[in-house]
Amino acid sequence: MTSVPKISFAKFAAVKKGAIVLLANDKPAISKMAGEYDPAGTIGRAMDVSKFKGKLATIMEVLAPQGIDGDRILVAGTGKADELNEEKWLRIGGAVRAKLGSADTVTIVCDLPDMEITETNISQLALGILLRSYKFGKYKTRKKDDNGSEIEPKSVRVSLFCTNPSGAKKAFAGAGAIAGGVNLARELVNEPANILGPVEFAARARELAALGVKVEILTEKEMKRRGMGALLGVAQGSVRPPRMAVMQWNGGKIRAKPVAFIGKGVVFDTGGISMKPAAGMEDMKGDMGGAAAVTGLMHALASRKAKANVVGIIGLVENMPDGAAQRPGDIVTSMSGQTIEVLNTDAEGRLVLADALWYCNERFKPVAMVNLATLTGAIIIALGKEHAGLFSNDDKLAQNLIDAGLATGEKLWRMPIGPAYDKLIDSKNADMKNIGGRYGGAITAAQFLKRFVGDTPWAHLDIAGTAMASSSTEYNQSWGSGFGVRLLDRLVRDIYE
Ligand code: BES
Ligand code: ZN
Ligand code: ZN
Repeated sequence: MTSVPKISFAKFAAVKKGAIVLLANDKPAISKMAGEYDPAGTIGRAMDVSKFKGKLATIMEVLAPQGIDGDRILVAGTGKADELNEEKWLRIGGAVRAKLGSADTVTIVCDLPDMEITETNISQLALGILLRSYKFGKYKTRKKDDNGSEIEPKSVRVSLFCTNPSGAKKAFAGAGAIAGGVNLARELVNEPANILGPVEFAARARELAALGVKVEILTEKEMKRRGMGALLGVAQGSVRPPRMAVMQWNGGKIRAKPVAFIGKGVVFDTGGISMKPAAGMEDMKGDMGGAAAVTGLMHALASRKAKANVVGIIGLVENMPDGAAQRPGDIVTSMSGQTIEVLNTDAEGRLVLADALWYCNERFKPVAMVNLATLTGAIIIALGKEHAGLFSNDDKLAQNLIDAGLATGEKLWRMPIGPAYDKLIDSKNADMKNIGGRYGGAITAAQFLKRFVGDTPWAHLDIAGTAMASSSTEYNQSWGSGFGVRLLDRLVRDIYE
């Protein structure tokens, strides 16, 4: 991970060096404090000349006027003050971070002419900076560009001037935890599969113990003993053994039932014997985006000491073709006792989740289960890369998720489920088959999962289009987006704390 900027908060004061960031709305009216940093009114003139209109997340850059100790002034547009929301502040923070270049000292003056900027707004702005700072650069051995300058800036200090620094610092304590969780999820998705197999991923999950998370790792033997034949069938074609990580954060009332998050962790999906075509197959290193989001979420919740009981379970396997691999037509018995005819070995995520969901429900009796999975190409055809698919057996849980999505910008779109779709996965030879035919592929996949959740309120998020190679934003330029961490942190905060 790239060097994480050090964030601090202070009262408005003179700036001694570095870049100064001022805010401007779409009037475009600039920060009330502008006079302090621009006694001669240079910025106003520069805004006229460059036709800078203060549009959301746009930046105008000028040399610091004479008499000011800083070296550059960046004016960051906020757009219409009354339309600002949580995600827009992230975008402003991200846009600022992108323009900092080699600056190592940055001051952001947090005030606007017709709007009071709250501590939460300021913490979101800072979170946007942290999220944009992430870069997957660990395998680049070249550290200098052609001019001999460092490619990565060294440490960056960002000071945010505001009226209530201690309040902002408090609000930011939570935001910093979220940045850690999102950036962990991104890193796990970006890691190539030769480095991150099931065993290595489980070891990364185990590291959460340092934050107070209780972590258990189930080995192949333990999964066999529990009869997890659906998950094990997927894993049997790989020389790398499967794992299941069970993470518990108990920050809530003793003995209060937990909410549970379950992730698909296929560290690489070749398709197995029903092999995928070569073009683009490298993307399947990201087929553990669900497991990464769950791990990042547990990291965030523990770092901010969330007052809730939360379980995170991830099924970790590699889907490979091999002499020992499962064949199309094989029939496996899941932990639930239900039998599955595997007609396509590339529909493997649902097989992994079938056992993870059943195990979770049986052991923890959670108040709700939410699973995340890069489950189907069909959801990308249906929704593109702007929304993840949401499937649920519970309207209230679905609405809570949709609301969390609107608040964070990690948007969800509810898709239908029902008996007519469920019929499509009935099998001649077993209780069900693992594919449902050409139509409604994302829906039949969801129907399959539903057969393993009993009556527990449950939601399935198909994040195939949003966990990786999603549309980039000012606060995310990474291939692995970390989608789901901010969304579910918000859900926990609003509903379960
Ligand atoms: N991991 C894939 C789904 C996927 C596709 C994720 C593209 C991200 C980007 C999943 O295991 C898969 O292969 N699904 C098949 C299901 C089919 C065989 C019924 C698919 O979507 O084609
Ligand atoms: Zn697959
Ligand atoms: Zn897959």
